[in-house]
Amino acid sequence: MRQFTEDNLTDEVVARLKKTKDKRFREIMTSAVKHLHAFAREVSLTEEEWFEGIKFLTAVGQKCDGKRQECILLSDVLGLSMMVVALNHKTAPGATEATVLGPFFAHGAKEYGYGGDLRVGATMKGEDVWVSGRVLGVDGKPVPNAALDIWQAKADGIYDLQTEGEFELRGRVKANAKGEYAFASYKPKFYSIPMDGPVGDLVRATHNNHMRPAHMHAIVSAPGYQQVITHVFVEGDPYLDGDAVFAVKNSLVGRYKKGNDAALAKKFGLSNPYLKLEFDFRLSPETAGAKKARKKIAASDAVA
Ligand code: BEZ
Ligand code: FE
Repeated sequence: MRQFTEDNLTDEVVARLKKTKDKRFREIMTSAVKHLHAFAREVSLTEEEWFEGIKFLTAVGQKCDGKRQECILLSDVLGLSMMVVALNHKTAPGATEATVLGPFFAHGAKEYGYGGDLRVGATMKGEDVWVSGRVLGVDGKPVPNAALDIWQAKADGIYDLQTEGEFELRGRVKANAKGEYAFASYKPKFYSIPMDGPVGDLVRATHNNHMRPAHMHAIVSAPGYQQVITHVFVEGDPYLDGDAVFAVKNSLVGRYKKGNDAALAKKFGLSNPYLKLEFDFRLSPETAGAKKARKKIAASDAVA
């Protein structure tokens, strides 16, 4: 077929996707094409405007490197990341709610046992906080031997990955056989999402809030349970109602109380009094499908 018009072009592009072998990929591409064409039509997109769009997307890609993830940031500020999280994590009642991963997670952080000190090597001091709690199933029973990947910004609101130095205020904290975990850190502070790139330009142009309420990030994993990627926010933070990336959930707002225990402070190197945050994570059981997939991967790894 030739001679495409505004009226038959969408159908023709969709028809050319019909030979795509992977059914799910075909479904996604078909829908994406239909929505993109409908969008151009709805706003009567001009060539100049679309060229601006292409320049923007190019700049987003060019801003990315090993440490900077501008594509994730774009998805976050458009609410797309939280939409995908919401669609995919209809957690069991009582389970810890999931949120965006954000652009600052890194593999390979140091492992800590009960009471590990995430402040070691931090280039900036903050208010000492003793974070403790349990990892439980939705039935309230302790989950043994969970791992908590924790990361947070420094006192100036900048993540270690945004600078040239070593890992700071991040670690893999192992919970014990009773599901208990604890670590020392600094109280997180609110901060701005990175505003020195094209996503920052977009946020400014739309007069949107660029601040994130104070939080620490956590990925909690344990064998036989669904992993949860989440945040723990700080009660009373001024930005809880306007998070730039829409990640706040009431159930994830933690209360920082005053702790006063000279023996604990001495043992774990905290100032006394100190702040303490108690927060339990609750995991949903692994789905049958996920269990099967995990076993299949383990079996093929054993053969290889
Ligand atoms: C973060 O919390 O680290 C984050 C999440 C989304 C965008 C920017 C930062
Ligand atoms: Fe963060």
